[in-house]
Amino acid sequence: MVNLPYQYGREVSGEYFFNRKKDLETLSRLLLYGKNDLALYGIRRIGKTSLMLRLKESLEKKGCLPIIIKCEKLLPLDEVTFFKNLVDELKVQLVKVSKKEKTKEVAKLFLPEKIGVSVEDIHFWIEFGKGEIKNLKKIMEKTFDLTNKIGAVTKRKVIIFLDEFQELFPFGDAFLWALRAHINESKALFIVCSSHHRFIANLTQEKHPFFNFFQTYEIKGVSDDDAELFLKSRIEKLGVRYEQQAIQKILYLSNGHPYYIQLLGFWCYELALSLNKRVIDEKVLSLAYSESLQAIPAHLISSFEKLKGKTRSVFVVLCLYDLSSVSGIAKHAGLDPKAAYQLLQQIESSYGLVKRNAENKFEVTDLFLKAYVQKLFDHPVMVP
Ligand SMILES: Nc1ncnc2c1ncn2[C@@H]1O[C@H](COP(=O)(O)OP(=O)(O)O)[C@@H](O)[C@H]1O
Ligand SMILES: [Mg+2]
Repeated sequence: MVNLPYQYGREVSGEYFFNRKKDLETLSRLLLYGKNDLALYGIRRIGKTSLMLRLKESLEKKGCLPIIIKCEKLLPLDEVTFFKNLVDELKVQLVKVSKKEKTKEVAKLFLPEKIGVSVEDIHFWIEFGKGEIKNLKKIMEKTFDLTNKIGAVTKRKVIIFLDEFQELFPFGDAFLWALRAHINESKALFIVCSSHHRFIANLTQEKHPFFNFFQTYEIKGVSDDDAELFLKSRIEKLGVRYEQQAIQKILYLSNGHPYYIQLLGFWCYELALSLNKRVIDEKVLSLAYSESLQAIPAHLISSFEKLKGKTRSVFVVLCLYDLSSVSGIAKHAGLDPKAAYQLLQQIESSYGLVKRNAENKFEVTDLFLKAYVQKLFDHPVMVP
């Protein structure tokens, strides 16, 4: 089987995962010796879920009981499903670590609507059937009780990752306040994670149930050195190599963003194969870049599509011309500066498509979206 050197899209693991050494060290330390529950944040596709998977592996090796719940995958999206998934995952872990055959047997026999465990002398069942389904409070209490008991019985630290945690926010403040109280009292450790551009703003709002609750940690891009090492080592085995200029351009274009590093690498390899080349040069790279622009994350396109009228104009102007001052943008868009400023602020807070740089000037957050828009308007794409 031919192994592809790069992988983009879903979270990666195994040989496709690179580096994050510092993040892993810091987070392991915080988890094992710190007292706080953690909130990880970072833009979409920066590698949060991949990092969580890797953390989970290393925590398992250290004798913890880590589980990952993907809040964005709750279907139906409701509170009961959330707890049901949590208990299901706890069960999987328990079966894994349980040495007693009898315990395994019991754990395997769970009925779909009757979730629970019998460990040694503890019998613990939660009915997710018709009877108790409405009693969310009880379900919540029992799930947290169960979590504590599993920790006590197995003598292992239970660590619960909640990926895309903000998906639980629509369940309402009453739910979130109760959840906060339970997490606070729980013996388990919670690590929540979010891509939402307003996540940190939410957590620093006094009225928010999770105000100042978590210790926060930002997941950022990777260093050029690490990216270069990864790009080269992955393709070497396949008898293909990069020209140094091509590598430099990938590093420039991807700007430390692991998704784009993998995306560009993927297309460079594909095109080299189809052109029968063993060396990836700038020409291959520039073709790869064009292909990559067709594969920018769907959420970016859909956010862009949501911009209408003057809001859209302002954003397009920002993409097409390298303007940094609001007055320049306003002039190009045919607006007065105050209106342009307001629209830019709106694009920032509602969609996160623009951000303010160190000089408090607006810039497009995602460079691939910027190039995509340039292409859309037949504007020469600015390859360095
Ligand atoms: N540590 C990593 N090593 C290699 N590729 C990564 C890494 N982290 C992220 N990626 C790339 O980014 C893509 C998205 O990663 P993911 O973990 O799903 O991000 P997030 O959860 O932040 O949206 C992956 O498909 C992969 O191509
Ligand atoms: Mg993710």
